[in-house]
Amino acid sequence: TGCFTYDPGFTSTASCDSAITYIDGEVGILMHRGYMIEDLAEHSDFMDVCYLLLHGELPKADQKTEFERSITYHTMLHEQMNYFYRGFRRDSHPMAIMVGVVGAMSAFYHDSTDISDPRQRMIASHRLIAKMPTIAAMAYKFSIGQPFVYPRNDLNYAENFLNMIFSVPCEEYKISPVLARAMDRIFILHADHEQNASTSTVRISGSSNANPFACIAAGIASLWGPAHGGANEAVLQMLQEIGTKDRIPEFIERAKDRDDPFRLMGFGHRVYKNYDPRAKVMQKSCHEVLAELGVKDPLLDVAMELERIALEDEYFAEKKLFPNVDFYSGIILKAMGFPTSMFTVLFALARTVGWVAQWREMIEDPKQRISRPRQLYNGHTKRDYVALGDR
Ligand code: CMC
Repeated sequence: TGCFTYDPGFTSTASCDSAITYIDGEVGILMHRGYMIEDLAEHSDFMDVCYLLLHGELPKADQKTEFERSITYHTMLHEQMNYFYRGFRRDSHPMAIMVGVVGAMSAFYHDSTDISDPRQRMIASHRLIAKMPTIAAMAYKFSIGQPFVYPRNDLNYAENFLNMIFSVPCEEYKISPVLARAMDRIFILHADHEQNASTSTVRISGSSNANPFACIAAGIASLWGPAHGGANEAVLQMLQEIGTKDRIPEFIERAKDRDDPFRLMGFGHRVYKNYDPRAKVMQKSCHEVLAELGVKDPLLDVAMELERIALEDEYFAEKKLFPNVDFYSGIILKAMGFPTSMFTVLFALARTVGWVAQWREMIEDPKQRISRPRQLYNGHTKRDYVALGDR
């Protein structure tokens, strides 16, 4: 009954209008505020892209200085949050820690929870972007039993993150400019992707005017799934399982078998029916980083061969399944020294700016109403209650 459209998985429902990100999935185009992702990845840096997503324009020099000042001002976590980490098991998945700690920020930063005030909305956004690297690095340090490393505001965003992840108090850590640039580019490539599952989760939770930190924690929970951000971790596990090129056909056949739940991880996308433009940049970056680090990873050869065979296969061509952003990112992150369990955390860190930009756009939209999807009820019709003894 009622008059509404049935659209499981929202394959043909626009849930909002948005001026932030444009995707043409048939051609394989991704633009933020009108700028091509390839141009941003090549010429910009992550702070530029954050400002662009939040404010609609690339920053002028003084605007960028002020933005970076505000982000670095907020990099520290409330000291009390250290104790929060210590309540987790050391072998917890860092994404589980992220969901908990980011949700807990709502209990620490009361002043930025008045979302009716535009200034407080901006402070909440800056706090999230600034603190996410600190939160992610602390989750990592906790898992390997090393002391937390405090943020350093003399470093740029990517350098500071690498320093908090890889430095130890007992020796000097030299940040490689190659790694810092690669990290920054990975952040740019993950910054936003319009109304994907996690972003829609943030918008839907925020539509009730809920606490912004809690909404972002909900986005992190959604991102964790292997069909979404968790795919980068799953890709590496898959490549390791394949191991050598001669086993690729076996896995391709499994991916095509309808009775086998196995899918080629890092392949396929709801919107892209062509090569994901982020995957192209990531593949190029992957070769550069491995060459500059002098790392020879046989998994890259397996990945390239897997891509080649899949792209020539009728099944993948017919279903328009191409490599997505997650296909090559894991190989770069592995070469940089990140454990597999941190891959999705890095995605969450970078996507935070997209989530907050979309959340703010939603809150500021005069048409904004609470998200309340309908359903097609297919349960029982009315029936008589049966007393316990008669069931
Ligand atoms: N390997 C084998 N077959 C596939 C794959 C794959 N990776 N992806 C889709 N298919 C098949 C699927 O079996 C279905 O076949 P049929 O029509 O015969 O039932 C058809 O292609 C359409 O798939 P779908 O699941 O209906 O498509 P969807 O739009 O609901 O799902 C997806 C998109 C990304 C969840 C899916 O392609 C997938 O599971 N890919 C692997 C996981 C992955 O790489 N995820 C990362 C996505 S990009 C980054 C991000 O969003 O975080």
